[in-house]
Amino acid sequence: MSVSTTSPSQTLISDAQARSGASPPLPRGPILDWSSFQLVDAPGISSVEDLPHTAFTTSGRAAIYQALLQLQLPSGSTVLAPSYHCPTMIAPAILANLNVSYFGIRADGLPNLDAIDAATARQSKAMIVAHYFGLARSLAEVRRWCDERGIALIEDCAHCYFGEAGERPVGAWGDYSTASLSKFLPVPEGGLLASSHRSISNLRLSPQSLKAQLKGWADVFELATKYQRFSGFNKVLAFLFRLKNSRLRSAAITDAPPEPEPANMMRDCDMGRISHAPLSASMTLKAVLPRGRVILRRQRNFACYAKHLEGVRGARPLFPLGTASFSQMAPYVFPLWVDDADRLYHALRAMELPVFRWDRIWPGTPALNDDQGPLWSRHVLQLLCHQDLSEADVQRTAEAIRSLLSSEPALATPAPT
Ligand SMILES: Cc1ncc(COP(=O)(O)O)c(C=O)c1O
Repeated sequence: MSVSTTSPSQTLISDAQARSGASPPLPRGPILDWSSFQLVDAPGISSVEDLPHTAFTTSGRAAIYQALLQLQLPSGSTVLAPSYHCPTMIAPAILANLNVSYFGIRADGLPNLDAIDAATARQSKAMIVAHYFGLARSLAEVRRWCDERGIALIEDCAHCYFGEAGERPVGAWGDYSTASLSKFLPVPEGGLLASSHRSISNLRLSPQSLKAQLKGWADVFELATKYQRFSGFNKVLAFLFRLKNSRLRSAAITDAPPEPEPANMMRDCDMGRISHAPLSASMTLKAVLPRGRVILRRQRNFACYAKHLEGVRGARPLFPLGTASFSQMAPYVFPLWVDDADRLYHALRAMELPVFRWDRIWPGTPALNDDQGPLWSRHVLQLLCHQDLSEADVQRTAEAIRSLLSSEPALATPAPT
């Protein structure tokens, strides 16, 4: 699994593919399109960016790093993090010279607080809790637990830029909240540090060079061109980008030897720009793009997966549908529990469908009692819901899943109840 942000090179539609008429890969993140500017009426859903204190960063991981710096913890302090994670949630704590201690998660995705021993809780100064998949939940219990122990709560909203989390809007439970712009908007990179009640002291981010600024804009348009999203201009833009890439290609080819796993992990997390100010391309698009279409199309795509995967043998939605109000969310992915997950996942990746799973966990993450984390890392496939997938795209992914599931009997790995 790649953990760096989407870049045009990851999502090229090859000329060969176009010539052969094979289905092109589907985009793995939002893409700028004429329709990105459409004004669509959407229900009034809260957003992390509406919180009283905000500061923009280059990524969600940079926002976690900056949240930890705001807390001014002594070097070597313990930060609690979930066993079910993306490595970009852990790398910031390690870069901030902090010690990570892991907690397990329950079947509802919330921290298994009862299993955190008293000594670890006493040592801990901060806790990172994520709203997985964009299906935000109340953090009332977690907030109380942290308050009783003097632990700062970092609410990781990378998957839910929008939504209500029980009794509060998303982001309003944490002492600091963090979010990822590039998962929700067609921006080259971007993150957000926010707080409902703590002011954010100056992040002292260094401005990016003119070359980086221009590259940021070029990346947005190059990605859009690859997916032919600018009707009327695609051909001329494609010609210009081909010209640009033919000049760069020879310099881009490297033959680096593989590095050992922990170094690989930090390298893949691409933490190089955590102290940089966000690009003007990201900030401008954030300021001008309307949000209604983003919210409604994500809800529609989520519902579309639910419809097409209903009753399928060997897989089921991770959470029972209908228990939460999906009208108050803008999902990031549709989480699907799959019994025979390894076979299915590798086949879906080979088909370049917009599906991933968190199967790369930070080295040293322990096995914990009563923890769903390891099961989710293997069995939960995350099916992307972003607004620039059409209903036909979602249906194509769902049909591939159905067909793979029916092609061989599922190995019996019962889903936890
Ligand atoms: C839960 C969670 N937190 C934080 C991050 C980091 O966000 P970004 O990719 O914007 O750095 C990710 C990225 O996948 C994530 O899934």
